[in-house]
Amino acid sequence: MDDIRDLPAWRELGRLAAQLRSTRVDAMFDRDPRRAERFTLSAAGIALDFSKQRVDCSVMAALGQLAQSRGFYPLRDALFSGEPINTSEERAAWHIALRRPADAPLYDEVHAVREDMAAFVDDLRSGRWTGHTGEPIRDIVNIGIGGSDLGPRMVYEALAVPEQRIRCHFVANVDPADLDDTLAELQAERTLFIVTSKSFTTAETLANARVARQWLLDKGAGEADIARHFVAVSTNAEAVQAFGIDRMFGFWDWVGGRFSLWSAVGLSIAAGLGMAAFEALLAGAHAMDAHFREAPLDENLPAALGMIGVWNNNFLGLPSHIVVPYAQRLAALPAYLQQLEMESNGKSVTRAGEPAVVNTVPAVWGSVGTNAQHAFFQMLHQGELAADIDFVLPLSPPADAHDPRERQRVANCLAQAEALMCGRDPDALVDELTQQGLQGGALERRLAARRFDGNRPSSMIVMDRLDAHHLGALLAAYEHKVFVQGLIWGINSFDQWGVELGKTMAERLVDELDGHGEVGQHDASTQALLARVRRSWDRD
Ligand code: F6P
Repeated sequence: MDDIRDLPAWRELGRLAAQLRSTRVDAMFDRDPRRAERFTLSAAGIALDFSKQRVDCSVMAALGQLAQSRGFYPLRDALFSGEPINTSEERAAWHIALRRPADAPLYDEVHAVREDMAAFVDDLRSGRWTGHTGEPIRDIVNIGIGGSDLGPRMVYEALAVPEQRIRCHFVANVDPADLDDTLAELQAERTLFIVTSKSFTTAETLANARVARQWLLDKGAGEADIARHFVAVSTNAEAVQAFGIDRMFGFWDWVGGRFSLWSAVGLSIAAGLGMAAFEALLAGAHAMDAHFREAPLDENLPAALGMIGVWNNNFLGLPSHIVVPYAQRLAALPAYLQQLEMESNGKSVTRAGEPAVVNTVPAVWGSVGTNAQHAFFQMLHQGELAADIDFVLPLSPPADAHDPRERQRVANCLAQAEALMCGRDPDALVDELTQQGLQGGALERRLAARRFDGNRPSSMIVMDRLDAHHLGALLAAYEHKVFVQGLIWGINSFDQWGVELGKTMAERLVDELDGHGEVGQHDASTQALLARVRRSWDRD
């Protein structure tokens, strides 16, 4: 692949960035009364207002040319037609096939598994599927990690209601506190475990599943009862069987872990919220897929999300991308997006195996608004490390607008975005402080501390409602954003070789920590830490 920096669009963007560096976005609004409308795109009940980003029509046009010169249109076709765009593993990344409607399938097995899930969910929710004492299932524990946890957990937490008929719990961590604390609240006879693992070799998931199995036996279930309390979601039928689980819901190697919540990996969503909610989630994602597939670059919402991220990261030099959902129920969204974006695009070689030569994914982090305002927003407003921010704002039903807390929630979100852009008028600040009686050095010092330049970019992503359909559309938009960024940077967004080495090393260390095995070769720091842990355990 050619050096991206030599492309005319890349050079043009560099030139535009130098020009816009000292331009104020609030002044752009003064010059263009249609700016808010011009830089808002809508699709599938999601609106993206990026008018507070430091962009103009020339920037957006050059970003479009960049994406096009990096193969946006043919690669988008390849994504949708299931070509092996995951080049290092020679597989498709065909998550869009998972959310096709049943009357327009792309892959028949997707719908066969979905029917199987629907039948199982119906049995569970109607009480036909019971635990070993004949009592209906009350609690589900999804045991899985990474993509086998973050997506289902986030969706469930976003949409569950306090009076859930079936409550879902999510255990990912191998730290015993995670599973042990969860089990302490549960009744074995009424609990179902869903062991979710694409590979069914993930050490922490299998360790937790073994402990869960033993817990059931200790609580009085017999070996023959395990089948009523354990199901699996995996691509590895052999390993599932070897573990002793009879009922498996399958998926396929072309479903990446972090893109898998739409497959049987979403079984906990369907069981907890009902199959209709799961179908609505898929339909929302499909609606966004249809938009992404059909809209040209300049009208394409997920493409705009991706291109603006490239602009901020590669041209305005903002190394952090922050996600702040102004909705308590979306508190798990930043963690989900961390895996989606950073496991996908945290790469430094191109698909051709050459150095990427430009920055790839920024650090993605965030937390729920309003709480985040009382944590890291000070840095966002006045710190040295400027960042690019996505505010996610679900609108509430009209009936809720009477709750003053709702008005406060929405006002906080809008106020933060406005403050970040406009900053504080220095003249008004001088007036205010002078009226308070400050003058001379004291006035200067106070002015310096309260100086608030603004001109910090953010996007506002408005969801018409926080429901399954809109959540599906939002998540699909972020998936396609990741795809667009990956294609611009020329990297493979669908593998994750970087996580392998640590896993292998941990396997060896587990044996060495056990105290009986030989301690092998390690760097001096690891050696000393190992000795420290062993000494501490020996003392007990
Ligand atoms: O973190 C690495 C990873 O392979 C993720 O990509 C994946 O989502 C997670 O581990 C869990 O893998 P599995 O579903 O195979 O247990």
